Amino acid sequence: MTVEGTPPVTGTDAASAVRDLFLLEVGHEPAGRWSAPGRVNLIGEHTDYNDGFVLPFAIPHRTHVQLGTRADGRIRVVSTFDEAPVEVPLDELDELFPGGRENVPTWSAYPLGVAWALLRAAGRAARTVPGVDIAIASNVPVGAGLSSSAAIESATAVALNDAWGLGLDRVALARVGRTAENEAVGAPTGIMDQMASMLGRSDAAIFLDCRTLDATVVDVGFAAADLELLVLDTGVTHAHSTGGYRDRRASCERGAEVMGVPALRDLSIADLAAAEQRLDDVTFRRVRHIVTENQRVLDTVQTLRESGPRAIGGLLVASHASMRDDFEISVPELDVAVEAALEAGAVGARMTGGGFGGAAIALVDRARRERVAASVETAFAAAGFAAPHVFSVTPSAGAARD
Ligand code: GLA
Repeated sequence: MTVEGTPPVTGTDAASAVRDLFLLEVGHEPAGRWSAPGRVNLIGEHTDYNDGFVLPFAIPHRTHVQLGTRADGRIRVVSTFDEAPVEVPLDELDELFPGGRENVPTWSAYPLGVAWALLRAAGRAARTVPGVDIAIASNVPVGAGLSSSAAIESATAVALNDAWGLGLDRVALARVGRTAENEAVGAPTGIMDQMASMLGRSDAAIFLDCRTLDATVVDVGFAAADLELLVLDTGVTHAHSTGGYRDRRASCERGAEVMGVPALRDLSIADLAAAEQRLDDVTFRRVRHIVTENQRVLDTVQTLRESGPRAIGGLLVASHASMRDDFEISVPELDVAVEAALEAGAVGARMTGGGFGGAAIALVDRARRERVAASVETAFAAAGFAAPHVFSVTPSAGAARD
């Protein structure tokens, strides 16, 4: 099997598609183009909404937004996700979100929700900003756990922030993206994806404290160590606005409440014995995942700094086991992908993102990447799963005007 490099490295297909779409729908040259990346998370899963630590990096796959202003105070969004444009007066966004979201197609709640949350964050009335036409096209695979939604939110947020001259900083824009996702779309996610998409750097991961939102750039050193990070996309799609993600978040909140702490971030490994006494088995295992995962993020950062990326394999594998056994958010396809990658000699592998489908990542020797990809493909065929999509990613720059 041949591993694709990074399919749209420069994003030229979505970048040109978005321009064509804008010209077709709006009929004049746009004011500018902005873009924002998806992400993979190296380690630190479901820790973000527990005020904990995460270590994601932005990937080369980007969502492009083309924007122009209009004089009538309306916002119109059009995308390659759906043929029909959606148009709303800016001063009616308050009626749509959060209560009236069923009145617009789900995809449009991302950009419209960003416009709504941005005005609120900036303390600006809708009548004080010009109307906008926005076209969106994306190279970020949807439903693969690579944060296609954060890429839309971040690209829209930087575009509107510039077009409306609001001057919000990147962390404020990441918060706007999360507000759109939580309140306009209705998915109870944390802030990791928006921060990664906003703050991404070439060749580095972002070590984020999700309580303070302090972000530190951590050199991953993959290229110097002759390593590559493969994405093993299972093709099993998921949606975080439903079911499992919400349940896990509720279990974590319950665990923190019983343990008398503001968030699970405030528990350490030393507290687990007491937690086991006080919590039911399922809640305890959810709590144990978060507490040990937070520690694994700290250990990964320290290991990268002191020993380099070859030494983090065990932490990645332990993270996967914890998500499979304690947090119970893996699926057979993810477990098979991780096992097959390890059997073929990957340095480490784990599922990435919210779980219940999506992608795993495998850290592999460059010389071994074909072997690892073939092993995953063979294991999928043997298990009767649809063929996985395997490609490599490198840490990339965050949201920007193109
Ligand atoms: C999804 C959410 C994030 C985070 C991850 C799990 O990607 O959007 O906020 O909770 O799941 O780590």
